[in-house]
Amino acid sequence: MATKDLQPGDEAEITVGTLDDLGAGVAEIPSGRETLRLHVAGALPGERVAARLAHVSVHGHDAHREAWAELLSVLAPSADRVVPPCPSYGKCGGCALMGLAYPAQLAWKRQRLAARLARIPELATVSVDACVASPVTTGYRNQAKYVYGRNHDSQRLALGAFAPRSHRIVDLAGCRVVEPVLDEARLSLLGVLAGKNIEPFDERRRTSALRYGVMRATEVGQVMVTLVVARPDWPEAQEVADALAAACPAVASVVLNVNATAGNRIFGDEERLLHGQSTLEDRIGEVRVRLSSRSFFQTNRQVASRIYHDLVAAAPARAARAVDVYSGAGPIALSLAPQADEVVAIEENPAATAVAAAFIAEQGGVAGRVRVVTGDAARCLAQVERADLVVLNPPRKGCAAPVLAAACRLRPRLLAYVSCDLETLARDLAGLAAGGARILRITPYDMMPHTPHVETLALLTLR
Ligand SMILES: C[S@@+](CC[C@H](N)C(=O)[O-])C[C@H]1O[C@@H](n2cnc3c(N)ncnc32)[C@H](O)[C@@H]1O
Repeated sequence: MATKDLQPGDEAEITVGTLDDLGAGVAEIPSGRETLRLHVAGALPGERVAARLAHVSVHGHDAHREAWAELLSVLAPSADRVVPPCPSYGKCGGCALMGLAYPAQLAWKRQRLAARLARIPELATVSVDACVASPVTTGYRNQAKYVYGRNHDSQRLALGAFAPRSHRIVDLAGCRVVEPVLDEARLSLLGVLAGKNIEPFDERRRTSALRYGVMRATEVGQVMVTLVVARPDWPEAQEVADALAAACPAVASVVLNVNATAGNRIFGDEERLLHGQSTLEDRIGEVRVRLSSRSFFQTNRQVASRIYHDLVAAAPARAARAVDVYSGAGPIALSLAPQADEVVAIEENPAATAVAAAFIAEQGGVAGRVRVVTGDAARCLAQVERADLVVLNPPRKGCAAPVLAAACRLRPRLLAYVSCDLETLARDLAGLAAGGARILRITPYDMMPHTPHVETLALLTLR
């Protein structure tokens, strides 16, 4: 029988069944002749909550329709509900799971990965290990991107984040997941900018210049700050950099990056040093790397180190050649160097490879076994003739089909796939299985506690 058609603004009491891929609670409720899959951020499985309908999708499928609602109150809380430790929880949208107890977060991540793989016939019987916990669940992020703008509520200058699905800026003061030194540097930069009355870049009127402050912290607490501006002629650049370095002794490097383009890309290609060193040395486990402002580096040093350790432990004790595809600053290649005669590190970002190659040459010893190749993964891997070990660690969009084909053609004893995206992992594992690879082990890792992110190490063989 048809029930009342629910409209935006209607309130309802609902029981939450599961979490969606973004970590919001989902309840199925009748509306007219359809069922709404109602997504409620902040609601947890098993809870009875009151919610206000905000938006119903215009697209429906099989009498089901997606809809989104705002959480009004929790009527019957889950036993896994905890008090989120962050002042910006619920506003910045960055840590959707912070209200869920940590063991339940880990169980959900494992189950999400297993459920995603089970949808692919070739992978349906694969077993998935328990999710490896992060040793720390706050203060783990070694990098942060802050948008410079005015706080939507107070109109004060802020270094924060865009609220979910909007261009409203939420202050990130006191964010609990970044390393504390990043919050100190953020506060110092904000003090300098506010003290000099520097207006944020205005996208519509194209006035002023400063868009983002991007920061990374090294293991020893040095901070690199990249000021991303919309035009190269920002007159205040040097005085801001000098004042920031004076205000925050942890700041060892300030770089000016020019990004005049619209869209989601953070960095532009033009860059110049304003203060200190143009690159910083960092460490993951036993491995030392050198990073430019635009080199990729894993967010959670301790979890990345655990993944590299597990990968090295699974690798052949002696390999004639290993290939690290999508190598970034080279931490995986350097981790493998002690047990390979040669490691080929393939990476397309010249800003990362120039610094990595110079640092590897400087280190000498086993690091000297790493040969850095700058270029596209598919093109460069196609030129490799033999390898005992191939590592794939692509960005979120996963591997291009020719990369999977080239990896299978090499028939490595071990093929390790380090993934930061479940969808492309599932797609690429199916591709590798079709190319003859056999899955040995799949382990999820909690690289980013409190977020829905799942990092995965899949070990396969072609022998
Ligand atoms: C997830 S990061 C992995 C970095 C490194 N393995 C690590 O653990 O730090 C992915 C890297 O792939 C690089 N990349 C993206 N597309 C590429 C392509 N088509 N060919 C080669 N490298 C690419 C990016 O620049 C980035 O450094």
